[in-house]
Amino acid sequence: MTLDQPGQAAPDTPTREEAAAEIARLRAEVDRHNHLYHAKAAPEVSDSVYDDLFRRLQALEAAHPSLATPDSPTQRVGAEPLESLPNLEHAVPMLSLDSAHEIGDVRRFDERLRKALGEDEIRYVVEPKLDGASLELVYVDGVLDRAVTRGNGRVGEGVTENVRTIPSVPLRLREDTLPAPGFLSVRGEAIMYLGDFENLNQRRIEAGEPPYQNPRNATSGALRQLDSKITAQRPLTVLAYDVMAVEGADFATDSEGLAALKAWGLRTPDRIEVVGSVEEIGDYHRAFDADRESLDYEIDGVVVKLDALEPRERLGSTSHHPRWAIAYKFEPRKEVTRIDRIFVSVGRTGVLTPVALLRPVEVGGVTVSRASLHNREELERKGVREGDRVRIQRAGDVIPQVVERIAEEGRDRGEPFVMPDACPSCGTEPLEKGPFTVCPNHFACRAQLKGRIAHFGSRSALDIEGMGSETAALLVDEGLVKELADIFDLTEEDLVPLEGFAEVSARNLVRAIGERRRVELARFLVGLGIPEVGVSVAADLAAHFRSVDAIRGAPPEEMEEIHGVGSKMSAAIRNFLDEPRVAEALDRLMAKGVEPVAPPVREGGATESDGPEHDWEGNRIVLTGALETFSRRELKEILQGLGARVTGSVSARTDLVVAGASPGSKLARARELGVAVVDETELRKRLDASAGRRGGPGDERDPSGADPATR
Ligand code: IVH
Repeated sequence: MTLDQPGQAAPDTPTREEAAAEIARLRAEVDRHNHLYHAKAAPEVSDSVYDDLFRRLQALEAAHPSLATPDSPTQRVGAEPLESLPNLEHAVPMLSLDSAHEIGDVRRFDERLRKALGEDEIRYVVEPKLDGASLELVYVDGVLDRAVTRGNGRVGEGVTENVRTIPSVPLRLREDTLPAPGFLSVRGEAIMYLGDFENLNQRRIEAGEPPYQNPRNATSGALRQLDSKITAQRPLTVLAYDVMAVEGADFATDSEGLAALKAWGLRTPDRIEVVGSVEEIGDYHRAFDADRESLDYEIDGVVVKLDALEPRERLGSTSHHPRWAIAYKFEPRKEVTRIDRIFVSVGRTGVLTPVALLRPVEVGGVTVSRASLHNREELERKGVREGDRVRIQRAGDVIPQVVERIAEEGRDRGEPFVMPDACPSCGTEPLEKGPFTVCPNHFACRAQLKGRIAHFGSRSALDIEGMGSETAALLVDEGLVKELADIFDLTEEDLVPLEGFAEVSARNLVRAIGERRRVELARFLVGLGIPEVGVSVAADLAAHFRSVDAIRGAPPEEMEEIHGVGSKMSAAIRNFLDEPRVAEALDRLMAKGVEPVAPPVREGGATESDGPEHDWEGNRIVLTGALETFSRRELKEILQGLGARVTGSVSARTDLVVAGASPGSKLARARELGVAVVDETELRKRLDASAGRRGGPGDERDPSGADPATR
């Protein structure tokens, strides 16, 4: 029996009908106060009055579970953590904006519009360009249905549960003055106010956690959590600025759309204005720029949009941006400080980067205490030394840069900085590679070793179950592995005492490593992390050369016989393999009994034009950028049909990233993690090869799946 059954309530508890009425009243009340507080910044009651209302609502809903609905203000937090964020298509592509850097650019934009529209009077909406994470909110029949990050503009990540926790996002549109439309897709920006950001960082520092670099990173990190309970603890706000699609409401201008968004309870950016000339746009830009330091949120320019909606349609868009809007950017923020010290950090691939440690200085609300000096040549070009006064700049997300040295008359300068002649991590003599300085001790330098081990064991390489980056780090930190080959000497007894290990897990890891002594040659090559060699090139090299020794002895010209291997790639491969430390590390790996196996020769002999053999089963594949010859849905179905999993975000477990035109951060992430990347042409080749071999799907030109070679 539940309290929900009519007539069963105890005498002093309300009946179901009474409870329903009370719940409805409380929800409206809580929603109203939420709206006043978070969207209008004009609260009418104190926090404790609000808390009382909220708790009464919670208690009533708990007593009457059948009366709980997803749009209740109590239902913002509580969803179960997700395994991954789903890929969701936007109702309308989310384009980006063309940029203007000076008033002349804006003037040309204005002239183009006047000419195209043949109108003398044009009105523009001007508003701050918020520097956060843009996202789409979709309301169906007034109820929040989904929230999707911008992603590549066509498809983004579904972050609905996370966005539900953001108080400024109504779970149900308000209808005080305007009925909710049947369908509404809104674009907005998730941001963190600077005050909120600082409090968050303060809390993190107190908890011993690293603070966030800037509000934008903190925001996109919070938005993309798998557990919405974490998002709920991050102070996010969403400001809505564009009606992307609407059914059941009609606007003639953008300003009307913005007014409607407000009426429906969404929060919109401050200081939106309508102006009629380039001069006014200039004034607006200047005024905002002057106030930039005193704002409580980060902006990097102002957005100028044609107010009238019908002419927007006539103007249309390029593949990247609408022709009716432009972002008029601010100059990057610059600040002057002093270099206390220059040190060199060793990256995971062995690149030595000079870094300037600065007297901490605030640049637009963020304290900057270090800046990259990029590489040896950049350092020489800028000619900065320890103790120098320098101008630094922070442009958007980019790591702060040293722009220039500021000469100081009569001040003694330090010595010119020279790159060290020993790797700061392992002492090996570094090599000069173009502008870069690289530690060649790739498989034993501590700075590189953890990453190398994890990569060696990753799914597209040796696929050693249990050898993730945490374990790799532990093995190096505990001194059990001093170079890559050492992993083959690990014993159960070595592992059992380590944190996180027990007998079974220790045995499993030792077995998993042992079993992978015999491994496909292509996987072994991937595992070495040779520059430029991802899954696809590794498969080609394996099919062509068929043994580690043959590859180690191959002249660059022979490598270049492989389709897609050019002189730059062959030189990179040769340089890597010829490096004495690498050669020694390879010898030691082979001495541990590692035995890479050549791919089977297919009937009729393997030829390169057949493309590399590719087993899609269980592969994790990420699609990014705009695809030209596939629709995303189609490609996803094809890959899934071959047994692959198409996932939304790139991690060390990703096997392959398919990059279309203008790919975003996923490509960068893939490069960072050493995940294989192919373009559409290469993918098609592989799919064709699979289709030819298995008669499976993948060859659009011949849906029968007949072997392409026989056609
Ligand atoms: S309007 C079709 N207005 O800036 C373009 N965008 O590339 C509609 N942004 O990530 C966008 N503040 O999401 C518009 N007030 C504002 C904005 C804004 C920030 C973002 C936008 C995109 C980037 C422009």
